[in-house]
Amino acid sequence: MQRLPLVLQSQSIQPALIAVLTAIADGCRDIARQINRGALAGVLGAAGAENVQGEQQKKLDVIANDILKSLLLREPTVRALASEEEEAIVPANADGRYLVSFDPLDGSSNIDINSMVGTIFSIYDVPGATPVTEADFLRPGRQQVAAGYVLYGPAVMLVLTTGQGVQMYTLDQHAGEFLLTEARVSIAADTNEFAINMSNQRFWSEPMQHFIGQLLQGKDGPRNKNFNMRWVAAMVADVHRILCRGGLFAYPWDRREPEKPGKLRLMYEANPMALLVERAGGEAWTDSEKILDLQPQHIHQRVPVILGSANEVMACIDAHRPKPFSPN
Ligand code: F6P
Ligand code: MN
Repeated sequence: MQRLPLVLQSQSIQPALIAVLTAIADGCRDIARQINRGALAGVLGAAGAENVQGEQQKKLDVIANDILKSLLLREPTVRALASEEEEAIVPANADGRYLVSFDPLDGSSNIDINSMVGTIFSIYDVPGATPVTEADFLRPGRQQVAAGYVLYGPAVMLVLTTGQGVQMYTLDQHAGEFLLTEARVSIAADTNEFAINMSNQRFWSEPMQHFIGQLLQGKDGPRNKNFNMRWVAAMVADVHRILCRGGLFAYPWDRREPEKPGKLRLMYEANPMALLVERAGGEAWTDSEKILDLQPQHIHQRVPVILGSANEVMACIDAHRPKPFSPN
């Protein structure tokens, strides 16, 4: 099985980008070690502070952020970072060209129940002579040069796209290396599985309630097939399942906090996952636009997310389209 840097070299990826990806992979291997030791390392529980999103920070959120930040700041080709755990962008090296956004520990409420969590990252190539600002980060997701995640599960896996499909790597814990275990990830167009937090049902838009309502009717409804449901409550784990066996994932708009257009963050959750899903043949939308075409407004922006098996995502998007007026 091939090691990550060798696969990237064989794909003719720029050495500077390979260096950034290797730094991320090294950081995630260290994060995996901390997670693996759990209570033995004293890393569980709350850090006692809130992040920029107003959410309770866990100790591991802070540890994971610090690990990735210190490795990436040392990387000469990294120009700046944006993290879920940092209010503002963090400038790195003036001569660098890569802007790296990341969610250091996705699904961190799973930490205290010893369940799956992940790290998500997104990379843009934006060299520049002027001091870096947040505006440099605000590019549509389609311009990402690489994106991926690491899933800390029963095995630690890195899932990555650099422009040539989507690959999965598994961490060999003894060698400390990510080895290629799936060279060509592809999402089936049809599915009978969906992932959504059903407890929010009454807060969704009318089209979303109608669409999911039809899935729930199964064979007795207009879809004429039974659907299964899964919800890990860590986006990395739910998206990973979809990359492995198809499915629909949705964290749609809801009216609990009308000023928030969704829960998930565009720059370091929706965009990298959307790139992986599209490159694997799936679809990734808000309820009206492709996520990768959105013009970001700020680094911590939230968006509705509907992604996964192409035919099911498009059925959901069609349910949201305005219906033509009919006089009867
Ligand atoms: O990062 C936000 C997140 O933890 C995602 O990983 C996950 O999909 C979602 O929130 C879970 O939200 P909820 O707790 O509302 O089900
Ligand atoms: Mn997250």
